[in-house]
Amino acid sequence: MLQPQPTAGDTSWFTHDRFGMFIHWGLYSLGARHEWLMNAEKISVAEYERRYFKHFDPDLYDPQLWADAAANAGMKYFVITTKHHEGFCLWDSKFTDYKATNSPAKRDLLKPMVEAFRKRDIRVGLYHSLLDWHHPHMIIDNKIGPYRELPEAEREKLNEGRDQAKYAEYLYNQTKELLTEFGKVDVLWYDFSYPDKEGRGSKFGKGKDDWQSEKLLKLIRELQPKIMIDDRLNLPDDHPLGPWDFKTPEQFQPDGWVHINGKPVVWEACQTLSGSWGYHRDEASWRSTEELIRTLIDSVSKGGNFLLNVGPTGRGEIDERAMDRLKGIGEWMKRHSRSIYGCTQAPAEFVAPKDCRYTYNPTTKRLYLHVLAWPYKHIALDNLAGKVEYAQLLNDASEVKLQGLEEWQSAHWKLGQNQAQTITLPQVKPNVAVPVVELFLK
Ligand code: GLC
Repeated sequence: MLQPQPTAGDTSWFTHDRFGMFIHWGLYSLGARHEWLMNAEKISVAEYERRYFKHFDPDLYDPQLWADAAANAGMKYFVITTKHHEGFCLWDSKFTDYKATNSPAKRDLLKPMVEAFRKRDIRVGLYHSLLDWHHPHMIIDNKIGPYRELPEAEREKLNEGRDQAKYAEYLYNQTKELLTEFGKVDVLWYDFSYPDKEGRGSKFGKGKDDWQSEKLLKLIRELQPKIMIDDRLNLPDDHPLGPWDFKTPEQFQPDGWVHINGKPVVWEACQTLSGSWGYHRDEASWRSTEELIRTLIDSVSKGGNFLLNVGPTGRGEIDERAMDRLKGIGEWMKRHSRSIYGCTQAPAEFVAPKDCRYTYNPTTKRLYLHVLAWPYKHIALDNLAGKVEYAQLLNDASEVKLQGLEEWQSAHWKLGQNQAQTITLPQVKPNVAVPVVELFLK
């Protein structure tokens, strides 16, 4: 069985819990058309402040409702955008005025959130943007940000007096705040680096030298040695302090267990409900509950985690389209979480049949067959002949017969009879998003 490479942080809870909630919430929630709108529409700092900072008033914000929604969906950790690329901070940072306490919200929004989620036994993850389109010292480059397409001379003018080292210090100070003022933090989720390919420095992209990533890494490992750090600091994989604890594919599902330098690593797919991370009013391309459940299953079947994003509104609510999905996932998880928690990719000799995914719990030695397309009564499970002690559907614990095919039938299967275990499924698909057969191995 594959085991992920150990790293500096504690990943044991993470590879057990498997499922988390990502939350993108900030001033962009008011724009309600993607969290990158400042970049996309090239909105100046002053204009962005005028529109959104001056009007951010989440009067319906009740973090306990968010935590309840996550807990009921079966999520075991959450990751909140303490600051996104726009630069606005949800907590009462000493190092900026651009924060929730100075907006019409007039309060620290992060502290009560962390407390509410902890109350539901949900672990705490803090997302923090490395980029900052608001900070007066972050050098403006020609790749990303509202001023990226200005003529070079104008960008140069805006860059007068800016000092990237001062911005790196700001990152350092805020990281320190986040890791000292909110108790134990389980995950630090930095986002992201885009170093210039030709190595021309801050005016053409941003990477480890611009963030002073190594200094940040030292600080983090010192303040919270067990914390898990994501992989976006742009440090070399072989950094002695352990530059990351997990990999973060986003907006696609990897085709198998994520490997780095030929070795399996801890990984987490982060995905959106629709095409945007921040609240998007008009976007209609929402994923169905079933699709999302399949993504969760798919991630665990490849030894990974699933971090599902919600983008609450500017008034502080998780909107009904998201709530609907979370409730549906919760319904499924209530009866099927046994095939998720504590599970991982099945041992290599068990290759899932067509239209199915396996997960495996090495402690209980149970193999979970997720049936994505309901078949005609029988499925043949390769390499499992004589190895299954008992089988049942997970939703209602109804027995699934370990019945071989008649000889004349099995002549039409590719798998040989002595190698495959055939099981007999009910004619009608159980009324659940994805049915699961629990196979107790001998
Ligand atoms: C990206 C985007 C972003 C989002 C993040 C989540 O890098 O910049 O808006 O927060 O991915 O993974």
